[in-house]
Amino acid sequence: RTLRWLWKAPLLASLAGIAYVGWGVYEERNPGPQVEPDPSKKTLVVLGTGWGSVSLLKKLDTEHYNVIVISPRNYFLFTPLLPSCTTGLIEHRSIMEPIRTILRHTKANVKFYEAEASSVDPERKVVRVLDTSEIRGDVIETEIPYDMLVVGVGAENATFGIPGVREHTCFLKEIGDAQRIRKKIMDCVETAAFKGQSQEEIDRLLHMVVVGGGPTGVEFAGELQDFFEEDIKKLIPDIADRFRVTLIEALPNVLPSFSKQLIEYTESTFKEEKIDIMTKTMVKKVTEKTVEAEINKPDGTREKITLPYGLLVWATGNAVRPVVKDLMDRIPAQKDSRRGLAVNEYLVVQGTRDIWAVGDCAVAGYAPTAQVAAQEGNFLAGLFNNMARTEVLEQRVRELSGSLNLEPGNAADISKEIEEHERQLRRIKDIKPFHYSHQGSLAYIGSEKAVADVSWFNGNFASGGSLTFLFWRSAYLSMCFSTRNRLLVINDWVKSKLFGRDVSRE
Ligand code: FAD
Ligand code: NAI
Repeated sequence: RTLRWLWKAPLLASLAGIAYVGWGVYEERNPGPQVEPDPSKKTLVVLGTGWGSVSLLKKLDTEHYNVIVISPRNYFLFTPLLPSCTTGLIEHRSIMEPIRTILRHTKANVKFYEAEASSVDPERKVVRVLDTSEIRGDVIETEIPYDMLVVGVGAENATFGIPGVREHTCFLKEIGDAQRIRKKIMDCVETAAFKGQSQEEIDRLLHMVVVGGGPTGVEFAGELQDFFEEDIKKLIPDIADRFRVTLIEALPNVLPSFSKQLIEYTESTFKEEKIDIMTKTMVKKVTEKTVEAEINKPDGTREKITLPYGLLVWATGNAVRPVVKDLMDRIPAQKDSRRGLAVNEYLVVQGTRDIWAVGDCAVAGYAPTAQVAAQEGNFLAGLFNNMARTEVLEQRVRELSGSLNLEPGNAADISKEIEEHERQLRRIKDIKPFHYSHQGSLAYIGSEKAVADVSWFNGNFASGGSLTFLFWRSAYLSMCFSTRNRLLVINDWVKSKLFGRDVSRE
């Protein structure tokens, strides 16, 4: 009998899987009716459609507010799989989820404006927004008033003012960046393969340099080397022995936020993959074809080097966006904050009453990661839902208290109801401050290997290799925004495995 059930288990699991996917697809295609917002309710303006803002919108009870979302991007981007888009392993649309789809699934109608917030005036409680859409040919500027504001605009790329970075390098933060890199890789390869190139020029074109050994730089270097090994090398064998990837990092090691054991594992895997790691090397200047850096040698001296490159990807972390900087300058309590909007334990921007901040633009004492941003967004949704319920209950208690004298015959019932509401009020008013729960860090390091520092029963569990790679894939697949994203990503993985990556340059 047990054997018979064992035999049936995979069948039942498959049926459950199909039903789950089917339900996901049905739900996405058939959103329920939405109620119209009530103009007497407070206006909640949310800036951004990234991890922080979208996590908030997913959990927020939109019936309680007039919600307006403003972002220059009309989609959510699943950033953990962005490095895979640079080589075409995953197609970019597979990791984008239209904000319109997301907002169509909220309880009450939410307004969305595709525009950029240029400034926030906390005194007048208005956000100034710019619509820079090319379709009209001019820039439209307007103001949007708010009662409550959530700033979730993320961060921009840090360049530290190093000359040439903005003009000559590619960043890796947005979909457009990944597309630019994908194009440029193939441009370098095709130009190097062109007739009559000097040996020096071929070497330059095929030298791919990555600056910054944080998770973005490491994951990109791994993906790039995979692309070369699995596809470019096979399709264009004449340039096979010239393609080189170099990773430059100012600190003594890559992945500084991972455990020592995983740093060593990553560095040794990169050596096997023939990725050159140059640590203790600080880039000082970038020109159109070269990168100039300074190596800190063990004897304390410094050596200047100049490396010719074909593609240079700049991944040196985050900087504060101008809209955030402008807001910080308007709030005296923010004068000592450097890395973003300092928030209290309820994510309220310090020095303000009605502004909250989430994600990379907020300084709450945590690393700027998707995990933190998502948990902060969830927390705020809970907080706002509670605030709205509190108002409703308090209003009801006021009404009931007023009717106590008017309806003495019902006094017992009314008192009971008041008591019940007050009990609920005590419970929901007892809101705990935001607490981040770290689930661990994961990074792909190339050749179907990944590293993971995972929190496990109050301890830490570090692992690296091919099994970790399977864990990495399944973890990120399960975290993809929608069933549609999940199916598209699986399809891309299978397609690339069977037919290779598409090397055509659009
Ligand atoms: P974002 O997700 O960056 O969203 C910001 C939003 O604000 C965007 O919609 C943007 O268009 C909008 N915006 C920008 N300017 C304005 C403006 N002026 N007005 C209105 N809206 C504006 N973290 C992990 O935990 N795990 C990972 O595996 C991981 N992988 C990553 C891979 C890459 C390549 C990168 C770049 C980052 C990765 N991260 C990862 C970090 C993670 O993506 C960020 O921490 C996260 O996106 C921060 O969320 P956020 O909501 O603060 O900002
Ligand atoms: P980062 O800040 O983590 O790393 C940037 C690296 O660039 C640093 O190690 C720094 O020493 C180096 N650097 C700075 N200036 C330099 C210079 N002039 N020359 C050489 N090296 C220089 O930035 P990253 O990787 O973009 O990550 C940003 C955030 O996103 C981090 O919090 C990270 O944890 C998160 N993230 C997480 C991922 C994951 O969990 N898999 C993947 C990508 C990002």
